Amino acid sequence: MNEYNGDYLELIRQPIVVVMGHVDHGKTMLLDSIRNTSVHKREKGAITQHIGASEVPAEVLKSIGGPLIDKMKLKVALPGLLFIDTPGHEAFTSLRKRGGSIADIAILVVDVSQGFQPQTIEAINILKEFKTPFIVALNKIDLISGWKPQKTSSFLEASQKQAKAVQDDLDAKLYEVVSKLAEYGFNSERFDRITDFTREVAIVPVSAKTHEGIAEVLIMLTGLAQKFLEGRLHIDKSAPGRASIIEVKEVAGLGKTLDAILYDGTLKVNDYIAFPTLNGPRVTHVRALLRPKPLDEMRDPRDKFLNAPLVVAASGIKIAAPDLEDAIPGSTLIVVKDEHDPAIDELQSEVTSVLSYSDGEGVIVRADTLGSLEAAIRLLSNAGIRVRNVGIGTVTRKDVVDCSAVGMQNKADRAILAFNVKIQKDVEQYARECKIRIFEEGVIYQLIENFFEWKKEIEAEEKRNVIDKLQPIAQLYTLQNCCFRASKPAVFGVKVEVGRIRPDVMLIDENGRMLGKLRSIQRDKESLTEATAGAEVAIAVDDVFFGKDITFGKRIYTYVPKKDADLYLEKYNNLLSENEISLLMHILRITKQRLA
Ligand code: GTP
Ligand code: MG
Repeated sequence: MNEYNGDYLELIRQPIVVVMGHVDHGKTMLLDSIRNTSVHKREKGAITQHIGASEVPAEVLKSIGGPLIDKMKLKVALPGLLFIDTPGHEAFTSLRKRGGSIADIAILVVDVSQGFQPQTIEAINILKEFKTPFIVALNKIDLISGWKPQKTSSFLEASQKQAKAVQDDLDAKLYEVVSKLAEYGFNSERFDRITDFTREVAIVPVSAKTHEGIAEVLIMLTGLAQKFLEGRLHIDKSAPGRASIIEVKEVAGLGKTLDAILYDGTLKVNDYIAFPTLNGPRVTHVRALLRPKPLDEMRDPRDKFLNAPLVVAASGIKIAAPDLEDAIPGSTLIVVKDEHDPAIDELQSEVTSVLSYSDGEGVIVRADTLGSLEAAIRLLSNAGIRVRNVGIGTVTRKDVVDCSAVGMQNKADRAILAFNVKIQKDVEQYARECKIRIFEEGVIYQLIENFFEWKKEIEAEEKRNVIDKLQPIAQLYTLQNCCFRASKPAVFGVKVEVGRIRPDVMLIDENGRMLGKLRSIQRDKESLTEATAGAEVAIAVDDVFFGKDITFGKRIYTYVPKKDADLYLEKYNNLLSENEISLLMHILRITKQRLA
């Protein structure tokens, strides 16, 4: 923790590192491993514990990185790295600040045997959206069959000691990840084979269990931070303290407290602080700033915290103050002069602007936190999904009522997208009664996929309904040697080349002359209610004499009356393929009908 020492000239803060990845891929263990490795490397005290974070100081980075740092010509110019301990993608989204995230860089943990999983993809989407630089920790290499764990924290050292087949196996798995990353627009490579770090994402094979690779993880993060974050890490001394609220927590003896990451400026006891709530801004004053007591000083487990008079960014800190209960995780807390500070309105308007997001029409969106809501809005908007209103918290009956106000003609808007919130059974039941679809997911891109799938189904159904009322458009080709009966009715084979036919449509020949009514369609002696492009079927047509009115190798079309053609072209042209539209124009031409 950066304690105030009276001299914050040239203060560069530690980059904030967030760990992301799929459930059980080893995020927590990787953080533990980083902590343990560092503790082993130095006397106690090397690692500073923060609330919700741990800090690996520069000396530790240098001592673990050692020769590798020299080899990579890396000068460690950072005071250290601040790792955020909150697990999952929630870590990232709760670390929000206006228009982005306070996470400077990220480690994406991928289990080497499992590869990409839903939350891996989610993390990638979020990192991409927020343009956060990251490395991939390809974890659990100790589980690769034949891997012989080595007593080193360097992957390169450990790897040299492995059999060739084991190295090849790891490479094969690593390049699967490379190709997966490419699907999401990222070039990547094993860290030691990278030629240009500005273009390629570094993949570091690692074992959180044996610590092999931890050295390179730390070095890559340091390099990444130094390369990409210049400017971003200077603390503005004149700026008031700014923190991102992670959690509102009840602590015995202290009441409600805020766990927060201070990412800019300084924060002191007795400072006035302001934060937004759903009912307008709140201003209060800091009663105490708390950080975890080192384990060896913890005599009484109830006595978990140390008091700090002042903290400097970047720090994880617990804030004790009156009136904290309505604080919103993911919102920003700032130090203010007094309750008239204009920065307070700005802060509130930031939350209001997220919560009042609307495209005017579309679906309703609910999410668990401000950060996840903001991330959801961004990803939904990228996917072209329009949003009518948004909110934090679970879906209510009122949401269902609001959603029901959308007419049946906009069926795809009769949906509520719920991200990371539990839906109550009675609300679910009520939504079913109102024919409102609720989508509930913990992964945004899955939510989007499920919604799109449903929307496609609805559109297909609507298309069927509309098209069923109009005369079908089709082009048929009479098949060679496939006449089963010459007349009354004529029965012969055709291939449907474009569009679709169904019984009762009127057929015309190449010159637009009426042939007769299609009485039935058959395939393999079975009657069909419809045949679509590509199908070869036998059709029975009234009033036709095969061999005279029509013969082999000729085209036949459906007759489309002008009023249907007008409807197709004016209202439903999005339901037709390009082929069908040009066929429709051809039919109109040969039947000498003019459009409206
Ligand atoms: P969540 O917080 O639930 O999302 O999981 P996580 O990503 O934090 O995973 P965690 O660190 O809890 O690890 C999940 C399981 O994998 C645990 O049983 C770990 O012991 C195991 N594990 C993690 N890393 C390694 C590793 O490098 N090697 C081996 N063999 N096991 C590992
Ligand atoms: Mg975990």
